[in-house]
Amino acid sequence: MNNITNIHCNSSRNIQPRRKQTSFQGVTPIEKLGKDTFVGVRNTLIQETAFFREPELIEFVKQYITTTLKDKHKINIIDGACSKGYETYTIAMMLDDVSKEIKILGLDIGKEAINDAQKGIYFVKQIHGNEDTVFAYKFGLAAYNDDYLAFSPETQLSAKEKYYKKKFNEFFEAIPNYKEKRTLFEYIREKLFPGFTPHFETKAFKIKPEKAEKCQFIPGDIRKLDRIVPENSADVLLFRNALYHMTTQEAGMGLKIPLPDKIVIPVVKDIVKQIDKSIAHNGLFVIGEHKSDHTLTAGKTLYKELENRNFTPVFYNPDGSMAYIWKKK
Ligand SMILES: C[S@@+](CC[C@H](N)C(=O)[O-])C[C@H]1O[C@@H](n2cnc3c(N)ncnc32)[C@H](O)[C@@H]1O
Repeated sequence: MNNITNIHCNSSRNIQPRRKQTSFQGVTPIEKLGKDTFVGVRNTLIQETAFFREPELIEFVKQYITTTLKDKHKINIIDGACSKGYETYTIAMMLDDVSKEIKILGLDIGKEAINDAQKGIYFVKQIHGNEDTVFAYKFGLAAYNDDYLAFSPETQLSAKEKYYKKKFNEFFEAIPNYKEKRTLFEYIREKLFPGFTPHFETKAFKIKPEKAEKCQFIPGDIRKLDRIVPENSADVLLFRNALYHMTTQEAGMGLKIPLPDKIVIPVVKDIVKQIDKSIAHNGLFVIGEHKSDHTLTAGKTLYKELENRNFTPVFYNPDGSMAYIWKKK
């Protein structure tokens, strides 16, 4: 595969300073589903997300909307696994300066996630601790730092972070005196292992009413997208970091193992059919950077099916091995 864009995906945020670091994981709630609700044996939803996660992907979308789709005045965006809406509002913030009528619909199979998105209360966390405590907390998870939005002084920010923070302040207002509630597990861990427990500082924000109108949230399943999205109507459809829910099973301790091909292949084919049906001519499909959505049977079937349905990759990771964004002819 050739890398046909010069935009590179930045993974430098994952490089943490040594010792006495502060770090952050976005939000990482888990929602339980009924036993038989999901494909295979998965019955939990991992709703890890953050503001300005993988911003290069949204920047690509922005550039595409203002160039390739420059003659289109109404842009329809479907955020197909929006979790609690951090991603949906990120899209709204990043496209705020585009002078077009932009509609963004966030949907997620998780009902609790959608309830939270509709409430419009958001959290930005910072974790304090030494290298070991932070590592223990972060073990096995990717880091998406958005704590600069609520914690770092302007002087410490890059130009890009300053811009994102400016947008964040335009969209959200702080909830004063917010106190983090600790779970029983956290309380016990602090008592038993005080030296091995990171300390969280959380700030809470509410979406401003005039900005809330930019995004709508409804429960929905990507596998039944045609019940929600009219045919050929989406200019951009995102299903970021979510495919693994339907192609892997839980093996405890956060480990995922692939489901057998005979389960995975029909599921992925069905999803691509739905994606194809809902996306407009010249529209984009955004997968995200989660590696397991690109590898093994799931990824191979996904790419093959997208190609069969006349999608072409337009945005890759730097070595060209994963295609994050696809365009429909
Ligand atoms: C890891 S989160 C990713 C959230 C967000 N897209 C991001 O990248 O930050 C995965 C989300 O996919 C949702 N999800 C899983 N299967 C889904 C499906 N069939 N339809 C819609 N949402 C789904 C989960 O509920 C969860 O909120």
